[in-house]
Amino acid sequence: MDKKLLAAALAARENAYAPYSKFKVGAAVETADGHIFTGCNVENASYGLTCCAERNAVFAAIGSGARSFKALCVVADTEEPVAPCGACRQVLAEFPFEKIILANCKGLTKIMTVAELLPYGFGPEALEFEK
Ligand code: THU
Repeated sequence: MDKKLLAAALAARENAYAPYSKFKVGAAVETADGHIFTGCNVENASYGLTCCAERNAVFAAIGSGARSFKALCVVADTEEPVAPCGACRQVLAEFPFEKIILANCKGLTKIMTVAELLPYGFGPEALEFEK
């Protein structure tokens, strides 16, 4: 499944709208019931409105009704497996994931947990929110 997820993230990366940075990112989320949702980065002339690939993938899944996730894979053309930005780490921390797969276009991967990506993060448990 990790290979399938990486392939989906790579395919989503092709749709990246990144005319300003030229830095294309793709992401794919696997839900608990085996569905895959994807996202790419979408930039904007008002730069701050840009939304990252990881968040677009998670939001697409949520918008389709998914609430339980197994994995997310993010890929970019970087030397090392790409590191998700801080805002995306915070969004990932909203949901339990078994693993987050960081990847580059050469197929190098690094598997991490959300806790490793965002230690001592602020999450829904702080608000005693039951999902
Ligand atoms: N980007 C992502 O899509 N995900 C990340 O985790 C890091 C950054 C995008 C945002 C922007 O379109 C471009 O990469 C350069 O920052």
